[in-house]
Amino acid sequence: MQDTANDVTLLEEAGAIIREGGLVAFPTETVYGLGGDAMNPSASAKIYAAKGRPSDNPLIVHIWDFSQLEEIASELPLEAKKLSDAFWPGPLTMIVPKNDKIPYETTGGLDTVAVRMPSHPVAKEFIRLSGRMIAAPSANTSGRPSPTKAEHVAHDLDGKIDAIIDGGSVDIGLESTIVDLSEGIPTILRPGYITKAMLEEVVGEVRIDPGILSENEKVRPKAPGMRYKHYAPKGDLTIINGQQDAVVAYINAATEEALAAGKRVGIVATEETRAFYNRGEVLTIGSRDDEDSIAHNLYGILRNFDELGVEVIYSESFSTPRIGQAIMNRLFKAAGHHMIDV
Ligand code: TXA
Ligand code: MG
Repeated sequence: MQDTANDVTLLEEAGAIIREGGLVAFPTETVYGLGGDAMNPSASAKIYAAKGRPSDNPLIVHIWDFSQLEEIASELPLEAKKLSDAFWPGPLTMIVPKNDKIPYETTGGLDTVAVRMPSHPVAKEFIRLSGRMIAAPSANTSGRPSPTKAEHVAHDLDGKIDAIIDGGSVDIGLESTIVDLSEGIPTILRPGYITKAMLEEVVGEVRIDPGILSENEKVRPKAPGMRYKHYAPKGDLTIINGQQDAVVAYINAATEEALAAGKRVGIVATEETRAFYNRGEVLTIGSRDDEDSIAHNLYGILRNFDELGVEVIYSESFSTPRIGQAIMNRLFKAAGHHMIDV
């Protein structure tokens, strides 16, 4: 079943599915989520099964009212209220110590719980009408790019879940920023639209988990989900970093070489460089003047390359000031950390 979002009866039906222990995919402002009743261990088990996700990788609990955070946290760090006032509803997930109401099946066995209040009107209304808190990872098959359209969800999960609420294309296109408030100084476990600087304006010093910055495999990211190879396109992706002219020249030469070797090649271009590439499958990710456009299109483009059956992908690099860190974090993972400086 695939429904359009702005129909209250459909959202009520979706809520009923949640109460009965079923799974519903729904739009949020970041990416589509695959929702189940956060208090129902068997719903969480179904989420893991549908995604093919390791069950030690915890789910985010989605709420629509702040009191729900108080209901499931064993203690509420001071920063939680401040960050909620500043950024909720919105693309920020907070990790807090959990109490007994949230089953370990939902938190992957951890004593902390990740909580987010999405701003997407359909998400808010769906959670409210369900009368539950909704555990939801991104609604993709584990290891695939997160879904930014209902069609992406259907492609990965049709037949494995009970309903998809179609809210069109999402706004941001990258998953929420995750900030850990469970021990000492707030720590970013996953970069996103809400940046370190934005958080620091509200709570003072904020750290970034060394595990997500390090190339050293021994420094493990704290968020279990950040440890897995993720967001991987089927083609072999390499990021080319440097001055624009040098990057274009390198990608063109590498493309010729790969084509000569009989391979199908994809190129991630920007509006600024599109005209300089004329071989291979060239897709424009967005404009360097509008960094949000790059975030918005990243996952869709990786999926497009899979459909085109390209075997090798070259992407330009993006060091944009604000959401750039989140973009590069996802692109790096998709590339298995393969970047060439030119
Ligand atoms: O924007 C988003 O956050 C989307 C939408 C649907 O809300 N959801 C999302 O969920 O990206 P998911 O499951 O794909 O990513 C959740 C991340 C994983 O890396 C997981 O390991 C981490 O959050 N996480 C969840 N609970 C945690 C906890 N208690 N401690 C550390 N990391 C946690
Ligand atoms: Mg995910």
